[in-house]
This record gives sequence, structure tokens and C-alpha cells, in this order.
Amino acid sequence: MIVRSETLKSNFPRHVAIIMDGNGRWSEQKGKHRVFGHKHGVKALRKSIAFAAEKNIEALTIFAFSSENWKRPEQEVNMLMELFFTVLGSEVKKLHKNNIKLTIVGDISGFSDRLQKKVHAAQLLTANNTGLALNVAANYGGRWDIVNATKKIAQQVKEGALEVESIDEQLLSSTLSLGELPDVDLMIRTGGDYRISNFLLWQLAYAELYFTDILWPDFDAKAFQLALDVFSGKERRFGQTSAQVNN
Ligand code: IPE
Ligand code: IPE
Ligand code: MG
Repeated sequence: MIVRSETLKSNFPRHVAIIMDGNGRWSEQKGKHRVFGHKHGVKALRKSIAFAAEKNIEALTIFAFSSENWKRPEQEVNMLMELFFTVLGSEVKKLHKNNIKLTIVGDISGFSDRLQKKVHAAQLLTANNTGLALNVAANYGGRWDIVNATKKIAQQVKEGALEVESIDEQLLSSTLSLGELPDVDLMIRTGGDYRISNFLLWQLAYAELYFTDILWPDFDAKAFQLALDVFSGKERRFGQTSAQVNN
């Protein structure tokens, strides 16, 4: 019985990442403005957070705004910033009550002062929570993350605090965003496209990738559960043979 429960446990992801895509198409299908889809996207996000917490997933990392999304029409960018500000304000207390630790990952300095303040306050409030680690990637890019970590490491070498020979995968991993969390086990992308769009490049090295045509505002607990079910059927070999893994 012990063996069975261990097997089940290893088939359950510790860290899930989601590219929440398809808000725009969802609203266009309904003849509405893209903003409508983003607002409904927030509702879907609430459901996924509740589901992840209920399932005792350790970490949930969601892609909210990429470093490339600044290229969108100014009106949409402004609206997304406003939505981010409002949602932070309205949701943080609830997250805190549910023992969820909120971290914003990305280049926060790209945001307005008032949004930066809101981000810092939200992180401070939930910093000591021990439940779900909820990471919101905002103004985030996987390449930015790697460059940022490289600069930090180079600075330490420059100051004489670190030998070049001591730079290894472990050090780079821990210097990146999400450095204290396990690597992503399962990455879900909604919206039907099969790409990473500069999300977590390093941290996805051995993640199972799950793509669904469901547009983000329609993604719910049932759809999340289906992704977990598919994940649990995967044999994760990490370079080994199937026979080795099964021994
Ligand atoms: C994802 O939905 C949300 C963000 C990138 C902020 P999109 O806005 O990209 O929706 P589509 O891909 O245009 O349908
Ligand atoms: C990825 O979606 C970023 C977020 C979900 C925040 P995009 O809609 O920006 O991705 P591309 O540009 O179509 O690849
Ligand atoms: Mg998109």
C-alpha cells in the first residue's frame, strides 16, 4: 500500500504553470471587445487558484502579461494594467485568508509607481503564508529572467564573492525567478497554440506540456482536472529508459 501511495504521489505535479491564452478570441466570438474577455479571464483564474489550493498543489505560476505584450494597442495595455491594479486590490485579502503566498515575477520596474506599490504591499501581506505558492508572471519573459540572473551572478564574480568555476546549473536555477521552488512539472496552455511564448524557458526543461483548444475564460476545474489526469498517465523518464524508471 505504501508503494502505491508513493507512486500516486509521484504522478501528481508539485508545480503547475499556465499560459492563460485566448481571452481576445473568446470575446471576439461573442462580438464583444477584447476587454470583456480579459475580465472573464479573471473569473477563470479564480477558479483555477481555488482548484490548485484544494488539490494541494504546492505552486501555481500563471502568465498574466509578457514582456512582449507591451506591443499591443496602447488602449489594451492600459486596460490590462488597470485590471491588474483592481484585481490585486480586490483579491489579496481573500488570498491571504486562504493562506496563499502571492509573488509577482517579472520586471516590476516597468509598471507605474502606484501599481508597484500595490504589488509590494500584496507580497508583504502574504509573504509568510504556507499554503499554495501563487506566482503571477507580469512583465515577464523567460529570456529576461535568464539575463537578469546572469547579471546578478556576474556582479558577484566582479565583487570577488564568487569564483567562475562555482557557477553551475544549481546556482543559475536558484538565482532565477522561482529559484526556491521545484521545477515546473506540468505546463498548461489554453487557446490552441503550441508554443511557449517566452514563458519559463529554463524552468520548463523537463515539464510535461499540455495544450488545449479551450479558450482561457472557459477553463474550469473540470478542464484542470483533465490536464492532471493526462499528466498522471505520463511516464517521466528524465533521460533514463522505461525499464530503469519502473525498477
Ligand atoms: C491572453 O489572452 C491574455 C494576455 C495575453 C494578457 P489574449 O489576449 O492573448 O487572447 P487571444 O490570444 O488574442 O485570443
Ligand atoms: C502569452 O500569450 C502571454 C500571456 C498569456 C500573458 P500571447 O497571446 O501574448 O502569446 P503569443 O504572442 O500569441 O505567442
Ligand atoms: Mg494570445
